Order: sequence, then C-alpha cells, then structure tokens
Amino acid sequence: MASLTSISQLNKTRFQTPPQAQFHPNLASDFLPKKRGSILFQGHFRNLSGMPMKAKTAGKNGVVSATTAEKPKKRYPGEAKGFVEEMRFVAMRLHTREQAKEGEKEVKEPEERPVAKWEPSIDGYLRFLVDSKLVYDTLEGIIEKAAFPSYAEFGNTGLERSGSLAKDLEWFKEQGHVIPEPSEPGNRYAEYLKELSDKNPQALICHFYNIYFAHSAGGRMIGRKVAEKILNGKELEFYKWDGDLSQLLQNVRDKLNKVAESWTREEKNHCLEETEKSFKYSGDILRLILS
Ligand code: HEM
Repeated sequence: MASLTSISQLNKTRFQTPPQAQFHPNLASDFLPKKRGSILFQGHFRNLSGMPMKAKTAGKNGVVSATTAEKPKKRYPGEAKGFVEEMRFVAMRLHTREQAKEGEKEVKEPEERPVAKWEPSIDGYLRFLVDSKLVYDTLEGIIEKAAFPSYAEFGNTGLERSGSLAKDLEWFKEQGHVIPEPSEPGNRYAEYLKELSDKNPQALICHFYNIYFAHSAGGRMIGRKVAEKILNGKELEFYKWDGDLSQLLQNVRDKLNKVAESWTREEKNHCLEETEKSFKYSGDILRLILS
C-alpha cells in the first residue's frame, strides 16, 4: 500500500539527483548554455530580465563585494506563482498559434492545424480513444502502484479518465463499431511512461500534468468539435467529470506545487524539459483522429 506521507516528510533520498547534478549555487547560468540548442529553453529564458548572479569579486583591499548578492534573484517564468505556472508557461509555448493564443510553435503536423479545419473519421477517432485509454490505464496504474511516495498524492483526484473511456468504447461497440487494438503511438507512449515511472519521478510528473491538463483544455474543445462533425454532437463520457472540473484541476495544481517544493532547481528544470516529449507523444496520438 502506498504511503500517503506528505511531501515534506518524504524520504528525500528517493528524490535525490546524482551527486554530479546536485545543487550548484549558480545553477541557472550553469544550466543555460547546455540547453541553448533546445527550442523549449530558447523560449523559456528569452524574456528573463535578471541575469545570472556574478561571482563575488575581491576588491583591492581584499574585501569581497556584497553588491552582487543584493541583486534580485533570477526567476524562471511563472516561478512566483508556483511550479505549475512554470510548467504551463513551457507548455503554452509549445502550442501553435492555431491551437492557442499563447502558442509560438510553427505548424508542422496535421493535428497542429486549426481543429475547425480537421476532417476526422470515426475509425480514426476510435483509434485515438483506444490509444488514449491505454495511456490513461498506464498512468493511473503507475499512480496507484506509487513507486515513489509522491505519486500517491495524485491518486483519486477525480481527473482519472480510464473508466470514462471504457464506457465510451462500450457505447461505440453497441453502435456496431469494431474496437481496434491499441496502435503504435499509444503503445509507445505507455511503454515510455512505464520506463520513467520507477526511475524518473520529475519527468513522470511532467507527463502527468500535461496529459490531464491538456485534456481538460484543448482536449475538451477537440471533443466538442469532433462530436459536432461525426457524432451528431454526442458528448462522450471522456469529456465529463464528476464535480466541478475547475475545482478538481485546482486541487491537483495545489498538490503539484506542493510536491515540487521539495525539488531542487535542477530537478524542476529536468521536469520542464520533459514537456517537449509529452507534446510529441500526445501529438502522435492526437494525429490518429485524422488517420
Ligand atoms: C490540437 C491540439 C491542441 C489544442 C487545440 C490545444 C489548445 C489549448 C488551449 C486553447 C488551451 C487553453 C489556453 C488558455 O488557458 O488560455 C490549452 C492549454 C493547455 N494545453 Fe493544449 N492544445 C493542444 C494540444 C496540447 C498537447 C499535445 C499538450 C501536451 C501534451 C497540451 C498541453 C496543454 C496544457 C498543459 C495547457 C494548460 C492547461 C491549463 O492551464 O489548465 N496541449 N491548450
């Protein structure tokens, strides 16, 4: 049975980064050049006003100047509001303008074009729902198993989608549709999540955030538009939640912020960096709607 120990009481050793990656007093500047090639981090740091703190310098009398230490601490976009805001900032940049107004990525894949222009098919949508179910089954199993105590914080949030997807697939079956086996994009993502789950909690949490929050935002809009086009407007269970969705989301944001409070800056950056992969895996599954 997973421990429900609050994060402040967690066994720190389970979260510790390897010694070479442990906190460095000037971590942000240490981190920046390494990541400069990444689109994510070009965007992420572009608007930062504060520069990394300089090393203290000894004056001619040998006294170390304290002026640099008085400079405001370098902040990451969204940091003041909590770590979820940092994750959101990175995620929004990875949308295209067509997907969300904060998006900046150029359109390369079919699913990145405006949803209004999509031409979905029932078979494609079924492939998307089946693969999505595999991903939610896997993620919800990982949370239940709680290889890391922090995962237990994210069980029974009310955001779970595995059960509602099972009902939807049953409904399609009753309508005479053949439910396909999971396909490559779903299998790939499920395998990757399993791989992360027992060795990389920060990366796993990034996927957890993006999967559930994407579905509650763009995912819902996609569900509505696709239903209008091919399901006579039928609202699937996948897009219904028990209780007030915004409150459920807020509860999860609070837990995510709490869990991330115990992470080092390096661990937080590691989580943020994973966002790009989350978009890639989820994008491949979304594209099934158009297949
Ligand atoms: C066709 C594809 C997509 C569309 C149309 C779309 C659209 C949107 C929109 C309209 C928002 C709300 C923006 C706001 O708060 O003003 C949003 C938020 C978000 N999206 Fe997407 N998105 C798509 C794909 C994705 C993917 C693939 C991911 C990651 C796996 C993702 C992750 C997120 C996250 C994390 C948020 C923030 C949610 C929140 O703050 O509650 N989105 N998206």
